[in-house]
Amino acid sequence: MNYRHAFHAGNFADVLKHVVLVALIEALTRKDKPLAYLETHAGAGLYDLGGEAARTGEFRDGIARLWDLHGAPGPLGSYLDLIRALEGNARVLARYPGSPWLAARLLRPGDRLRLAELAEGPARVLEALFRDDRRVRVERRDGYGALRAWLPPPERRALALVDPPFESQLDEFRAIEASLDEALRRFATGVYAVWYPIKRRADLNPFMRWAAAGGHRHVLRIELMVLPDNSPLRLNGCGMLVLNAPFDLDRTLAPSLRVLVDRLGRDPRAATTMEWLARD
Ligand SMILES: C[S@@+](CC[C@H](N)C(=O)[O-])C[C@H]1O[C@@H](n2cnc3c(N)ncnc32)[C@H](O)[C@@H]1O
Repeated sequence: MNYRHAFHAGNFADVLKHVVLVALIEALTRKDKPLAYLETHAGAGLYDLGGEAARTGEFRDGIARLWDLHGAPGPLGSYLDLIRALEGNARVLARYPGSPWLAARLLRPGDRLRLAELAEGPARVLEALFRDDRRVRVERRDGYGALRAWLPPPERRALALVDPPFESQLDEFRAIEASLDEALRRFATGVYAVWYPIKRRADLNPFMRWAAAGGHRHVLRIELMVLPDNSPLRLNGCGMLVLNAPFDLDRTLAPSLRVLVDRLGRDPRAATTMEWLARD
């Protein structure tokens, strides 16, 4: 396990993932019923952009390109407001939150968070971050095993975020498919959101075939390409696949995604796509 998210915090991939996450949590907390938030690969929860992130500078092509944007539409606006309100960010962009921090800010007192993180360093930071938050439990374990153990949730309502490091490259897709097949058997009505990298388009075909088949319902594919999708050597774009997506998630996200492609695109072919792979 070599992956360290601190090097990548706030890059364009985090931005897309976190804007979609904000849209999902806003949609699912509209109903006055408790929600379980389950995260399989949680990371450290909070990142100092002057540390390891500054060594790669990836955040400069991500969150930094949005920093002067005020009055942004929909979930992008909520996301930027949350990041600006982070302690230390009042005057300059100094810190970037992870998905567990964003989720904890948006969830309500009666909701619950279960966070799995396998690496000791980030797991410790995560535990410290949420020491005083009784809604949160951090577990130092494999995320796929954790998801199996957490389902079905007592609330009977859950959002799960699956955000693995893809160290095993294309094999990670097979692990995701197996994990979600099992999760759906245990809890068919959960909302499952998966982040995935896009290098070469053709490599995604088996995963998209799996997503569109298997009796899955309401499957939305949301992608942001900042470069053309034809090189296996670099991260050209990324996507979020949402199973059991709220019916209007595409409409909620569309104005935000248009801004993201304008601001984060690094090539005239930069683009965003939303497509229902399955819909009742
Ligand atoms: C992409 S990062 C997560 C970022 C986080 N979801 C966010 O958006 O802020 C992936 C994380 O998975 C952790 N990890 C790697 N293998 C794991 C496993 N088998 N189970 C749980 N966590 C794992 C890594 O240590 C890393 O912190």
